[in-house]
Amino acid sequence: MSFEVDAPLHTIAHISDTHLLGGDRKLFSSIDVAANITTIMSRLAHSEHNIEALVFTGDLADLGEPEAYRFLRATVEPLAREMGAQVVWTMGNHDEREPYARELFDEESAGEPHDRVYWVNGLRIISLDSTVPGYHHGDIEESQFEWLAAELASPAEHGTILALHHPPIPSHNEFVRIIELRNQERLASVLSGTDVRTILGGHLHYSTYSTFAGIPVAVASATCYTVDFGAPRDLLLSGVDGSQSIQLVHVYPQQVVHTIVPIQESRSVIAYPATQREMLTQYSTEEIFEMVSNKRSAHNREEQAISGGGEAVTPGSLG
Ligand SMILES: [Fe+2]
Ligand SMILES: [Fe+2]
Repeated sequence: MSFEVDAPLHTIAHISDTHLLGGDRKLFSSIDVAANITTIMSRLAHSEHNIEALVFTGDLADLGEPEAYRFLRATVEPLAREMGAQVVWTMGNHDEREPYARELFDEESAGEPHDRVYWVNGLRIISLDSTVPGYHHGDIEESQFEWLAAELASPAEHGTILALHHPPIPSHNEFVRIIELRNQERLASVLSGTDVRTILGGHLHYSTYSTFAGIPVAVASATCYTVDFGAPRDLLLSGVDGSQSIQLVHVYPQQVVHTIVPIQESRSVIAYPATQREMLTQYSTEEIFEMVSNKRSAHNREEQAISGGGEAVTPGSLG
């Protein structure tokens, strides 16, 4: 017996819309945006994931304040180094090009778009600046399209991930659509037929998925506040301090899988200790299949799981 697909070639963390403020100020005077990014970075650093890149899809600083970028860099870079992960920054409409370049790249900027290519063990990640200075909607200049087309002319060994703040997908919400990405037809013509395997976006503050020019699109929700589409109909839009999340991106030879990870830890009701990983090496694949998948196996009838408090719990099977 063998598994349908081998282990992923790459694991990426996709984080968006940190909206940090200088001076440790809270967003809307109430949301601790600094604590949110600190929490998720710590959770990732202590997780099982072998993260090769941390991709931030914009709105890093709420008001483009240098202090906010400095805090973000000081929070992210040491843990990224510990993880052995590259950091991929992308501009968002709340960011400002000059402090973004100076504080995150130690470079001076004359206000030009910030587009960059990152290489991650055979995988190419392109960070594309979809911002329009002074505005919240998105657009891409013709010179950027030409740069992107030239870059994509040669394929990467494991394909390409395109990261941009304004995702090229519609929002059903009338308010959100006002600040959507323009010039999408031109973007589709540049991306069609290339090795772009998935498009990562932010901006919407809710997790959503679609396709664009036949390419999957995944939008990570925000780490600051999120949009609640279960809100009552007398609200055109409701931003809430809850359900903040990031996403993991697993790149397989044939597929890319996006998985939502909440910022905050919740109460554990069942858990399997990591020591049970040894089981995977002690038995053959067929034996493990029988133990884990067979409802009548001793493994599924005995107490193998522990609760968050450490005590054994009534057995429950995976899935
Ligand atoms: Fe945002
Ligand atoms: Fe945005």
